[in-house]
Amino acid sequence: MTDITFDPASHYDRVTAAWLWLLGDELHYGAFERGDEELQAATRHLTDLLFAAVQVESDSRILDVGCGTGAPACHLATFGAHVVGITTSAAGVEAARARAAAAGMDSRVSFELRDGMDNGFPDGSFDRVWVMESSHLMPDRARLVAECARVLRPGGRVGLCDITLHRVLAFEEIRRLRQPLGLLRDVFGDARMEPLSVYRSLFEQAGLSTSSAISPTSPGRRSPAGVPTRSAIATR
Ligand SMILES: C[S@@+](CC[C@H](N)C(=O)[O-])C[C@H]1O[C@@H](n2cnc3c(N)ncnc32)[C@H](O)[C@@H]1O
Repeated sequence: MTDITFDPASHYDRVTAAWLWLLGDELHYGAFERGDEELQAATRHLTDLLFAAVQVESDSRILDVGCGTGAPACHLATFGAHVVGITTSAAGVEAARARAAAAGMDSRVSFELRDGMDNGFPDGSFDRVWVMESSHLMPDRARLVAECARVLRPGGRVGLCDITLHRVLAFEEIRRLRQPLGLLRDVFGDARMEPLSVYRSLFEQAGLSTSSAISPTSPGRRSPAGVPTRSAIATR
């Protein structure tokens, strides 16, 4: 019997190469304006939408929580930001460091093996906190948001973008869909979606004000249970 676990750290060590092959460099959904764009253009477009929403300034110090293999962090750094990417996947850190070195970006970006729910950085040490499609993998969402708020300097911004739930699934439905949901677990690992409203209230409980939310995917394109990619922007 194979001994496979679905906890995000070992899961992402196992699936990162496959996701890179499927999605390209940025491991998240795309924002399609026309519908016929290349996937890599759409994933980059979503990064740019969040980038504009969090109002990154030149020389901003950004914490990228759940940095994948570092492509969004390297992109943010091309605008003059200094980015620290963290992930619980050792394979992700290794790939992200190799990407930064190959792009000659290692003076502006760095990557560390750390947990977004207990990141260990000093209070108020970042101008921006960036959480792109990684929160669904963190079981204690309140801890994640509290940690984002703690390391944010006064006046700073958090941009969180993730797949969100648009309705609660009934127990009977979950039971009926046990098999397909199990298959999704093989791909996504131990993940859980939340409605956008949950994130907004967690930000508010953490003392941040939620200033806006963007939803680059039109309601017509959502799946029955989830809306790919919606974002909450919170300000200290
Ligand atoms: C879907 S990928 C998104 C990667 C990246 N943000 C991007 O947009 O390309 C999810 C990332 O979250 C990371 N992750 C999962 N749980 C984490 C945790 N508790 N703390 C930090 N990173 C975590 C995974 O290792 C992976 O890098």
